[in-house]
Amino acid sequence: MRLHSAAPSPFVRKVRIAALELGLFDQIKIIETHVAPGKTDTQYGETVNPLRKIPALELDDGTVLMDSYVICEYLDSLAGNHALIPAAGDARWNVLTGHSVANGMMEAAVLIRYETFLRPEEHRWSGWIDEQWVKIHTGLGWFNQRLPESESSLEGITLACALGYLDFRNPDVDWRGDYSRLAMWHDSASQRDAFSLTDPNG
Ligand code: BEZ
Repeated sequence: MRLHSAAPSPFVRKVRIAALELGLFDQIKIIETHVAPGKTDTQYGETVNPLRKIPALELDDGTVLMDSYVICEYLDSLAGNHALIPAAGDARWNVLTGHSVANGMMEAAVLIRYETFLRPEEHRWSGWIDEQWVKIHTGLGWFNQRLPESESSLEGITLACALGYLDFRNPDVDWRGDYSRLAMWHDSASQRDAFSLTDPNG
């Protein structure tokens, strides 16, 4: 399997952690792929992912899977024991809902990165950036009240990637001061090998 990746992407990190946790990482070859606005590998869009997003997973028979959620669900099905996503019941819907919130926080943080790092200063829209920060802070408060039951579920993995990306791209934001339960949760989750091996700050 070939995973189209860019090292700083929290969505790629999510898939890498999932593969490590499931014992499947050895079967994956990492392919560095450029997707930043203005620097996109156009051939990638034409031959792999029409949306020009990473990650995408090319299987040995040529099938391409995307996006990061679909890839994680596929890897979970390969491993065969529902370690990432519970098969049924409340546990399943809790993990999928937590995944959606953490994933949305990552999307907001990546949009802020593009808006502040790539967009020329005179074209930036501070009100729109503030809206993304509100989503991130409301999400942090939501998780502070409702910690994931499992660090290594898809919810726990995605939340750790969202928090790690905040630390990586916005080290000046002191979220730990306002969300202390979440900070303790993140300290504990970060001890796992799959998390520390992929830490963008490490
Ligand atoms: C980043 O450099 O922050 C980044 C790169 C690729 C995807 C998402 C984020």
